[in-house]
Amino acid sequence: MKTYLVTGGAGFIGSNFINYMLKKHLDIKLINLDKLTYAGNLENLKDAAKNPNYKFVQGDICDEELVGKLFKNNDIDIVVNFASESHVDRSIKNPQIFVKTNIQGTAVLLNAAKSAWETSEAFKDGVKFLQISTDEVYGSLGEKGHFSETTPLDPHSIYSSSKAGADLLVKAYYDTYKMPVCITRSSNNYGPFQFPEKLIPLTINNCINKKLIPVYGDGMNIRDWIYVQDNCMAIEMIINNGQMGQIYNIGGHNEKTNIHIIKIIIEYLHDNLNPKIDDNLITYVEDRKGHDRRYSVDTTKIEKEIGWHPETLFQNGIKMTIKWYLENKEWMKNVTGGEYQNYYEQMYRINSSIKGCP
Ligand code: NAD
Ligand code: DAU
Repeated sequence: MKTYLVTGGAGFIGSNFINYMLKKHLDIKLINLDKLTYAGNLENLKDAAKNPNYKFVQGDICDEELVGKLFKNNDIDIVVNFASESHVDRSIKNPQIFVKTNIQGTAVLLNAAKSAWETSEAFKDGVKFLQISTDEVYGSLGEKGHFSETTPLDPHSIYSSSKAGADLLVKAYYDTYKMPVCITRSSNNYGPFQFPEKLIPLTINNCINKKLIPVYGDGMNIRDWIYVQDNCMAIEMIINNGQMGQIYNIGGHNEKTNIHIIKIIIEYLHDNLNPKIDDNLITYVEDRKGHDRRYSVDTTKIEKEIGWHPETLFQNGIKMTIKWYLENKEWMKNVTGGEYQNYYEQMYRINSSIKGCP
């Protein structure tokens, strides 16, 4: 029975991954180490909590003593490191916590795993430490081209720089110690349990509550959207079949401008919830500082080497996602109270008269 240490498992992708793995495998143990920041929510793991093979530990990946104890007291076979500060806008306002969690936290995990594993057979036996990184480490594209795994790192935000820093540490543990690591670099995920500070759940939430939807700049920035379940599947396949020391891009073959995404959501909710939800909710605001223009991920490597490809068409995934938020209004209410409300109000000083916006 393999034991997984999943960090950040109470967040969006981590909780989807835990639910996916525990449903699929009866023969794994899974420890979830999560600090429960504003982004972590144990409600996401209600089903997992009933599973005797699942254990939750509240704690910080930067806490060397705690992480060391977890390795000492449990025979951990695989680490999947989702724990992260993940929102670009927050990194512009408060950089330090990004450096701490994303870089220092990863260093603590790498070191603890190395100490636990280096004297055993673990180093010889497939991928053991999976670092969950992002396509944002490659920077920004013009109208043409795609990110491949050999595209040079050129991060722009504090968030993506901290993720790139962590990636380099992970690589160094492979280059130096031959530690069995892999890195995934995925594009923008969407689906259930995503905190409504990110574009898709924010748009859904604002439509439901008839709040204005802030569009940064001209709304023509492009992201490559992937349904979260497809990412979970890719992560599992990399753990099973990835090559040590390798990087794998994960993407949805689904590039869309932000304004297009917003209009798709408005149209669905106009037709299925309330005809008063319409384009009048769209409001152009000041652009994000250092806003990357376009991301596009080349997934040839994972498709050829591992046989993974995204299965969910955006037209289906977005409907499933909107329906999930409509059916889970209580979840949304719970996560958007208190601290989030203050943050939201500070963040979005809605101003629809910015020059240069259509
Ligand atoms: P999220 O913000 O929803 O969740 C992050 C989780 O990490 C939360 O549960 C939080 O409590 C926990 N956490 C934060 N700091 C911690 C610490 N110091 N110690 C322990 N736990 C801590 O993030 P997400 O969107 O689920 O992203 C997960 C990972 O995937 C991140 O590493 C992110 O960089 C990466 N990623 C995300 C996307 C995306 O579109 N969401 C795309 C590519 C890569
Ligand atoms: O590409 C992968 C990355 O995707 C992950 O590594 C990050 O963790 C994740 O947060 C996401 O980053 P983005 O910055 O692309 O996601 P976000 O949802 O914040 O923004 C998506 C696009 O929408 C971006 O161009 C900014 C724009 N936007 C966002 C918000 C929240 C708006 O126009 N208005 C908004 O209110």
